[in-house]
Amino acid sequence: MKAIKTAGLGPGTRLVVGTSKPPKPGPNDVLVKVKASSVNPKDWKLNRTAAMLATPLLTKLLPPLFGDDLAGEVIATGSSVTDFTVGDKVYGMDMRPRTASLAEKAVIDQRCVAHMPHGLDFATAASLPLAALTALQGLHIGKAQSGSEVLIIGASGGVGTLAVQIAKAMGCHVTGVCSSRNRQRVHELGADAVIDYTAGDYRRDAGQFDLVFDVTSYETPQSCAPLLKPHGYFVSTGGNAKSVLALRTSRNPRVKGVLVRPVRRDLETINSMIEAGELTPVIDSQFAFADTEDAYRRSRSGRAQGKIVITVADDCSAESPGETAAD
Ligand SMILES: NC(=O)c1ccc[n+]([C@@H]2O[C@H](COP(=O)([O-])OP(=O)(O)OC[C@H]3O[C@@H](n4cnc5c(N)ncnc54)[C@H](OP(=O)(O)O)[C@@H]3O)[C@@H](O)[C@H]2O)c1
Repeated sequence: MKAIKTAGLGPGTRLVVGTSKPPKPGPNDVLVKVKASSVNPKDWKLNRTAAMLATPLLTKLLPPLFGDDLAGEVIATGSSVTDFTVGDKVYGMDMRPRTASLAEKAVIDQRCVAHMPHGLDFATAASLPLAALTALQGLHIGKAQSGSEVLIIGASGGVGTLAVQIAKAMGCHVTGVCSSRNRQRVHELGADAVIDYTAGDYRRDAGQFDLVFDVTSYETPQSCAPLLKPHGYFVSTGGNAKSVLALRTSRNPRVKGVLVRPVRRDLETINSMIEAGELTPVIDSQFAFADTEDAYRRSRSGRAQGKIVITVADDCSAESPGETAAD
């Protein structure tokens, strides 16, 4: 089967279409014919670390294949799988190397997938799992609930566009932090207020919040201290060394990191929000399988407005033959 692999070593490393043996499902796995996947910054951060260190050894330690998010059709099930059958349309994610979704076929543990939300095509569904679960789980960790005043820093990116909408669906009062070019978009996602981070340091006069959810990972509990109510939570996605260190060294029990977990029940919560019209995926751009390197380059720019999708199959429509949009 075709699969995305690395070619070259060090800074010249590129992602190219190669071939690989199709994976075999274990007892608890489903084998999925992958229709679409999406890019998460973690993917290229791993690659970049290997490239920067330029060590063949580290490159060898990287998973040989790539991709966590997937949407597609079940084509085989393991002996213990009871919740899915061949032909089911599923979406989900697993960050373990055993699931490599940038390939024509991928195995994934049945606990990491759910049936796809009604009304979405595969490309749109593939944009969701890792980012939407991060948003939902981050908001839960920060004890967001109806009436909470929530500040979302990084409201225009892959995780942020979903976090704004999920927080609104939970009944929170949401303030989004983004640059001027994304103000309108973040308002349209439902944010009650928008702060333009390019207009100057907002930390002293933005008010105080029950939860500051730093999706960018650029902030620390110290830099956000003026933004927190006395019992407010600071939650970070911990996407770089500075934020991880700040989280690890904090003694404040309300300073937390989110490390996304693939939980089917949470995917089903996302399904409910989509089907209720409370959550609309935001797609920054869509790339063909052969252009995966370009998709990663777009993500590395740090300027994505929503999620970057990679279509693995040519046809990403989720309608069965004979089925129409009105069915
Ligand atoms: N711990 C976990 O489980 C987990 C899970 C998912 C993601 N993450 C981490 O979370 C981070 C965000 O992920 P993502 O997928 O949302 O990234 P992304 O889509 O690449 O985020 C890009 C967005 O960030 C905005 N941005 C950049 N600088 C900003 C700033 N100073 N203030 C506010 N917004 C800013 C950009 O808007 P402008 O271009 O307008 O500035 C752009 O829209 C990454 O570090 C990722 O590794 C961690």
